[in-house]
Amino acid sequence: MKNEENVVLKPVKMTENSQLLKQMFLPDGGTYALGSSFAATSGSGKTTLLSHLIKESLKLDSFKEVRFVYVSIKLEHLFGDEVKPLSTLNETFKSMAKNNLTVFYPTDPTNYETDVDNLIEGVFNMANVNDNGQYVIIVDDCNILQGFDNRGNPSPSMKKAAIAGRSKGVRLITICHRIGNMPRLFNGNISGLVLMNVSKMDIEYAKKVFGLEVDMMESLIDELTDYKWAYIDMIRGGVMRFNPVPHSK
Ligand SMILES: Nc1ncnc2c1ncn2[C@@H]1O[C@H](COP(=O)(O)OP(=O)(O)OP(=O)(O)O)[C@@H](O)[C@H]1O
Ligand SMILES: [Mg+2]
Repeated sequence: MKNEENVVLKPVKMTENSQLLKQMFLPDGGTYALGSSFAATSGSGKTTLLSHLIKESLKLDSFKEVRFVYVSIKLEHLFGDEVKPLSTLNETFKSMAKNNLTVFYPTDPTNYETDVDNLIEGVFNMANVNDNGQYVIIVDDCNILQGFDNRGNPSPSMKKAAIAGRSKGVRLITICHRIGNMPRLFNGNISGLVLMNVSKMDIEYAKKVFGLEVDMMESLIDELTDYKWAYIDMIRGGVMRFNPVPHSK
């Protein structure tokens, strides 16, 4: 991977970055249509960043037909009061048929895994009957789910979403606290990695498991403070750094 030294943080104006938004989220079956993962320490601004990027994506013509479903285990979302969170899968699938953005709150902690698995299966069912369908499943705080650590074995549905999603028009976006929360299976099955504040331990892990370039990764530890973020292109290599997105509640 190429080391890009002295890159000045780019101001973030996402409509000018439609290419990047497509790389991150568009389920078009292309080279970049594997999953994307976000990793950063607790409170570093992941949910805020992700929500902003989704809202910006939805302004683009390319995303007109895309159905986003955002799963929040913490029962929170930043998409505005007009988006009413749903707590049953039935309502969630119905909403997805009509709306570009659906928020699903799994409310029973003993059933998180089952709920997320059933959501994934339901989305694949929709994709199977709609050849042109494009779906993005975002699981925030994914590290809470069983199997989300580097030696972990995620559920068969999660594996399916990670591995078989691209050809079906389904993309899985996972948001975790640490790079090391990602199951090893994700190595080779994500096209983009978004980092915010990261620890040295995480960087060591990324170097080892993802083969990311040492110098580039180490410089990120100091750079990604105060809600700054970076996109790592896992297909062609390279890193793009960005200033914080605007924060609005
Ligand atoms: N771009 C930003 N500019 C200013 N403040 C921000 C920004 N992003 C996040 N914050 C602040 O940081 C707090 C935490 O943000 P957020 O909930 O997005 O972090 P997180 O990484 O998702 O946290 P957690 O790991 O707990 O889920 C927010 O309440 C907000 O006050
Ligand atoms: Mg969060």
